Amino acid sequence: MVGARDPGWRAFAGAGRLTDILAGQPADERLLAEIYDLEHDEIVEDLHFYREWAARQPGDVIDLGCGSGRLFAPFLAGGARRILGIDGSPAMLERAEQRVAGDEGLRAAHAEGRIELAAGDVRSVERPERYALAVLAGVLSHLDGPAEARDALAAAGRLLDPGGALIVDLLGPGGLPPGDLPMSVDWTRTVGGRRIVRRSLLERQTDSDALRVTYDTLTDLQEADGTITRLPARFRLWYPSPTALFTLANEAGLGVDATYGSHDLDPLDGGSDRCIAVMRRSTAIPGRG
Ligand SMILES: C[S@@+](CC[C@H](N)C(=O)[O-])C[C@H]1O[C@@H](n2cnc3c(N)ncnc32)[C@H](O)[C@@H]1O
Repeated sequence: MVGARDPGWRAFAGAGRLTDILAGQPADERLLAEIYDLEHDEIVEDLHFYREWAARQPGDVIDLGCGSGRLFAPFLAGGARRILGIDGSPAMLERAEQRVAGDEGLRAAHAEGRIELAAGDVRSVERPERYALAVLAGVLSHLDGPAEARDALAAAGRLLDPGGALIVDLLGPGGLPPGDLPMSVDWTRTVGGRRIVRRSLLERQTDSDALRVTYDTLTDLQEADGTITRLPARFRLWYPSPTALFTLANEAGLGVDATYGSHDLDPLDGGSDRCIAVMRRSTAIPGRG
């Protein structure tokens, strides 16, 4: 069972499309992106899965909602010919650039023109080239429900070459927060001389085929001289049931080829921590000329 403050549900949930969701709030996107990396770089349990899929789908990879490029190294290790990372947040793309510059293998691939980053919206992304593998990892939950998710799935489908696969990776039914959580401390860390305290509050709203979560975070960064920078942020997250996701995929012109309940390929069921679907184009893709 996933505990109330277990990172299981929090994995992939902590950063949304920062430019949109922080509207009007006195927050620093760059600092939030830094905190995001601090939390998410610890997630490594899915890396072997993405390395394996890059090997299974030889060719080019498009990482839709790539964040700070956490998955680039496994794609390369799996033999990706070229990687395009797309994200809607300039601050996350900046973190991705820093990751590429700071890693020897990624830096060499970038110098050879094998890694590219671009700003874009996964709901409407268009590219002239086609991909063997497209990935939406932890991204659909940041969209505002089924219509936007259908748009993102259709856009991803249009990017696939005829043998291409789209992997959609979300929290599964067993990984979702089981109840509301009052404001309380998630973690405290000291990084680069700064003491960081992260608190959050979570409210759930269920309907028959999805869970909506409002997730308010309050991050305090205490400098060595005692001054505190407080970063408030609000994320609205949406988690479709597996059945709802598969219906949306069909409506977007995609067939579901395989499903998994974990990155170790456990079967997907009502207790699964992850909901992972491998989708392929059906014959007719809506919006494709
Ligand atoms: C939880 S992170 C996942 C990052 C990465 N896929 C990973 O697994 O580490 C979600 C990412 O999706 C991006 N995102 C959310 N909505 C988006 C949109 N409409 N268009 C482009 N990127 C979006 C966010 O900026 C964020 O970087």
